[in-house]
Amino acid sequence: MEYEEPKFFHVMQYAAAAAGDVIDMVSGNPDWEPPAALREALREYADRPPADFQYPPSEGLRELREVIAERRGVDPGRVVVTNGTGEANYLAMARALDRDAGDEALLMDPVYPYYPGKTHLLDGTPTLVPTTRDGGLDVDAIREAASEDTALIVLNTPNNPTGAVYDLDAVREVADVAAAVDALVVVDEVYGRFDLSGSFESALTLDDDRVIVTSGFSKSMAITGFRVGYGIFPESHVDDAKTRHMLVNVAGARPSQYAVYHALAETPPEYYAESRELLADRVAAFTDALDAAGAEYSRPEGAFYVLARFDSFPGTMANVKRLVDEAGVAGMPGEAFGTARSDWIRFALVTPRAAEAAERLADYFAEEPAPR
Ligand SMILES: Cc1ncc(COP(=O)(O)O)c(C=O)c1O
Repeated sequence: MEYEEPKFFHVMQYAAAAAGDVIDMVSGNPDWEPPAALREALREYADRPPADFQYPPSEGLRELREVIAERRGVDPGRVVVTNGTGEANYLAMARALDRDAGDEALLMDPVYPYYPGKTHLLDGTPTLVPTTRDGGLDVDAIREAASEDTALIVLNTPNNPTGAVYDLDAVREVADVAAAVDALVVVDEVYGRFDLSGSFESALTLDDDRVIVTSGFSKSMAITGFRVGYGIFPESHVDDAKTRHMLVNVAGARPSQYAVYHALAETPPEYYAESRELLADRVAAFTDALDAAGAEYSRPEGAFYVLARFDSFPGTMANVKRLVDEAGVAGMPGEAFGTARSDWIRFALVTPRAAEAAERLADYFAEEPAPR
């Protein structure tokens, strides 16, 4: 199998090897505290009996599946706990592409790079569909692109990298397009807790048997290393997902699921509100400094990334490396996210130094680097 190493590894390695102090705005690893209940449950886990050190049920700890189901208003039988949202996306995409319903996956451009990667892995053909200027869904473009060969449409809201929060009516229309060509729709809601606009509505509310919703706790609980996510599958697809998950993994990690269960059950809404507020403050500080740098940018409605464009400084890998060396700020080249924003650079606001980074960018561009 051919697969190019993700560009973010490349930028992170380059930034780590750089001579000067570099502010890392590449990765999506939250820098804040996980919920207190999660730390407590982990401590307690070390003293549990040997039985708790053995395989959990393959589809996930029953109590975790139940609390997820209750929160999301679905039957627990539809919930498969996975190794992160990443695995849930894989299971959902595999199901869609493995039904003899076509080989094509429609992916929104700009695109989270793992979607085309997984499509290729599954022997599918990715087609990038443009989004609107602000990253919203262009339903007409999706309708135009959809054909008998389309087996899958992947959406991500709130969106990485644009920060767009999709309008639920538009998602409903996409599900109608999917029905017309016998495709499934996967909606990745991993940033659902980071809705800065107050307008995010889960695709689960559509109650549509073509819609698979995926999510996880990597971002919402600041635990990307725990690998706990889930998929909520319609009845007719859930057994396929459970089987695939079992054959690949046997099961997920029990201590992680145990800790997430306790954190989910015991963490007050204020925890999530605080991380949202922290991000909103960082967005404000970062975009103020981008204004000072004369950059064009998208103000995110959700998730935790800002796309910015600097005059005569396209978001190529070479220019991203130049920013590392000359400004001390590491972002992700827009060309890593498909074709639509190749002039842009994505900055992840998961560092306490976001405002300082923006000031560095403002200073750097005030000195007008030679156009590239
Ligand atoms: C859109 C999107 N989906 C999925 C993931 C992976 O999430 P997880 O850590 O839950 O596998 C990420 C991580 O950055 C993401 O941005």
